[in-house]
Amino acid sequence: MRTLRIKLRLRARHAVLLAVSAAGCGSDGGGEPPGTFTEIFETLFPPTTNARCNFCHSMPASDISNGNLSTGMDQASAYAALIDVVSTSSRCGGKPLVVPFHPEESLFLDKLMGKPTCGDRMPLGGMALSESELEVVRSWIEAGAKDD
Ligand code: HEC
Repeated sequence: MRTLRIKLRLRARHAVLLAVSAAGCGSDGGGEPPGTFTEIFETLFPPTTNARCNFCHSMPASDISNGNLSTGMDQASAYAALIDVVSTSSRCGGKPLVVPFHPEESLFLDKLMGKPTCGDRMPLGGMALSESELEVVRSWIEAGAKDD
């Protein structure tokens, strides 16, 4: 009797795990193509957008004004500033900015989420990115963070 109860409990837990992982699959776009870097750059970086990352990040690297992340004014320099780069800022130093295929290890995505693991949420002083904008960044990293 006792073993039976334990078995049933295990089975119930397994069902919950399956449901959770199925929900996880559904949320990764459901067949949506991954975001591209062109899309990310155009939505976030030009000073004319709401996010205005370049308002601060196109300036020369400085710990105070941009956490040493200088993305320049064009897409090529923004890409170069993010890929294969480890943060040197006083608040997030040591963390890699973009780890291709691993959104959960990428500071670039972390800083855009509600509660980043270090420093302030970006865009600093601006409105948080929407779920769908975050998804563009996340899916782009997960697909290998190509210069596309
Ligand atoms: C008003 C100025 C300002 C704006 C606008 C801004 N940032 Fe920042 N950003 C900073 C400052 C200052 C830091 C360093 C302090 C910190 O980490 O909180 C920083 C740090 C970062 C870092 C970590 C850099 C590192 O190497 O540690 C990332 C990534 C980042 N910002 C991305 C963005 C993105 C993407 C946007 C646009 C969606 C954005 N920021 C908009 C000022 C800004």
